[in-house]
Amino acid sequence: MSHSCKILQTSAENIDLCVDLLRDGVVLGVPTETVYGLAGNALKEESVRRIFEVKGRPLLDPLIVHFSSIKQAEAHVEFNERARALAAQFWPGALTLVLRKKDTISDLVTAGLPSVAVRIPGHPIFRKLLERLEFPLAAPSANPFGYVSPTLAEHVAATLGDRVIAVLDGGACEYGVESTIADLRNPDTPTILRPGPLSAEQLGMQSVEVEQPSNKTAQPAPGMLSLHYSPNTPIMLFRHGERPSCVQKSEAVLYNTKPAADKLAENIFWLSESGDLKEIAHNLFTLIQKLDVRGYTQLQVERAENVDIGIAVNDRLIRAAAKR
Ligand code: TXA
Ligand code: MG
Repeated sequence: MSHSCKILQTSAENIDLCVDLLRDGVVLGVPTETVYGLAGNALKEESVRRIFEVKGRPLLDPLIVHFSSIKQAEAHVEFNERARALAAQFWPGALTLVLRKKDTISDLVTAGLPSVAVRIPGHPIFRKLLERLEFPLAAPSANPFGYVSPTLAEHVAATLGDRVIAVLDGGACEYGVESTIADLRNPDTPTILRPGPLSAEQLGMQSVEVEQPSNKTAQPAPGMLSLHYSPNTPIMLFRHGERPSCVQKSEAVLYNTKPAADKLAENIFWLSESGDLKEIAHNLFTLIQKLDVRGYTQLQVERAENVDIGIAVNDRLIRAAAKR
């Protein structure tokens, strides 16, 4: 695929270059421990606008703002005691908190909401950038709006490469699914808005029901649109631990675990040799994107066991399989 996006290896020079570019208001692909982000100065209107433009994302879908420290975040966000306790326990990490914003965060970032989604990421390269910068970074996942999130620098270059000048290569993302989003505006009724690597149990909250999304019903939060994470190839799901009822030669099958058979057909794939849930999440978007360019008529995908990060995997699969 031809594009002008540079994949930058992480060297001291390239980090310096990215710091300079971000200070100039440029939008870049950056690695995080969840998925790759499309980062820009959260306090500069021009950069924030550019993020929406590059993704082709509607302005009603608010962005997550990434900080280097709680101290830095406190200048822009109203914390409550419960949020502070969660932040102390899980940051840096794959947890995003929705809290009341202060006036320094523009309505453009939050789609006009009085709240803002915030996270201190754990990826050492992303942290290095944040620690060097004088401002927080707004960063949605670095995929075209509605497509599967990127888990490799190559995904960013392949899908946004004609609109982004560079992506900093931090290798394969550890978790492979986006952060858990918890609404902490009211500390007495914290709610999970998006399941992710940290489970409700770990966070001491009610677990979430993953339901078949529908575009007709009201969304739980702006931007929690059902048609998300969809590859170009249609996805059909089958139950965990079972087999698809009928498979055409033109279709691919994705199991959680490597099937026990001496010889497997060429259209059979698996997300983990052993069925390890973390590995299944880690490989999910990478394998889907790999198969998405092979011309299969359909991907038949096994649902994950509905526990821990498997809840996030099923949430993404259900959205990917939602009819367009
Ligand atoms: O792991 C992640 O969270 C990645 C990395 C790059 O940090 N980011 C990410 O951002 O997944 P994005 O924009 O693809 O998804 C953020 C979600 C959106 O669905 C958005 O609607 C929701 O967060 N969100 C943002 N601000 C919100 C707010 N104030 N209230 C409710 N939901 C909000
Ligand atoms: Mg996204």
